[in-house]
Amino acid sequence: MPDSLSKTSGLRSPALAATRYTLTAQALHWLTVLLMLAILPVAWVMVSLPKSPQQVWLFVIHRSLGMTILAVVAVRLAWRAAHPPPPLPGGPSTAMELVGRLTHWLLYALLLLMPVSGYLQSGNGRPVSYLGLFDLPALPENKGLGETAQTAHLLGQWGIYALVALHVLSTVWHVAVRRDGLLGRMIPPQDDAARDVPR
Ligand code: HEM
Ligand code: HEM
Repeated sequence: MPDSLSKTSGLRSPALAATRYTLTAQALHWLTVLLMLAILPVAWVMVSLPKSPQQVWLFVIHRSLGMTILAVVAVRLAWRAAHPPPPLPGGPSTAMELVGRLTHWLLYALLLLMPVSGYLQSGNGRPVSYLGLFDLPALPENKGLGETAQTAHLLGQWGIYALVALHVLSTVWHVAVRRDGLLGRMIPPQDDAARDVPR
């Protein structure tokens, strides 16, 4: 077990609370990952299909998943403001830690930019159906803004691919090379200490 966690894995250690994200932050993180794993293939398939009822439905599913991501990220940022992430083990920030932090903020920025630009494009003078259950309000019609939003949406996907790749590769590096317990900060404890994790 990494030193940073072994020191605190004793039952009921108050320090354990400071070594992990809260269970709520973890749940919101993995929910975002699941939604992203769903929305991207839906996007790729929907833009490849010919005009058809199937394509219309995939667009509805894509837009609805995207608006759900916007809501989850808003809750996530509010939760984060009230529950700051635990300090990283190992003292003062190194350059790599700063890169990690920057990556996280850029990911948040893109997790907001993608749904907002999608809504500005799709909701331009038209309501946006949420899974066919209800409509999100139409935005005032503005052709120029719609086109800019479309460009931002199409370019933003490349930022998502690059940052998620960097993020996952750096997690693999922490797990396989540094073995410093970083992934353990984002998953529930794997032993009896589970009860000590703040919610
Ligand atoms: C995190 C959220 C989102 C992600 C990661 C995402 C990702 C994508 C991707 C990868 C594409 C394919 C682009 C291409 O190569 O043609 C796409 C297209 C599209 N998305 Fe999203 N999207 C998100 C949210 C939304 C939302 C909330 C809406 C609308 C309410 C939306 C509306 C659209 C539309 C209309 C297209 C087709 C664009 C075009 O071909 O002109 N997206 N999205
Ligand atoms: C679409 C995919 C993903 C997105 C958008 C995403 C986003 C984020 C964000 C924004 C944070 C910062 C949390 C904060 O401080 O508020 C974070 C942290 C973290 N993520 Fe992800 N993540 C994704 C996928 C993954 C995957 C697949 C893994 C594991 C292989 C992972 C492992 C982690 C870990 C371990 C942390 C905590 C890092 C630390 O303690 O500094 N993430 N993620």
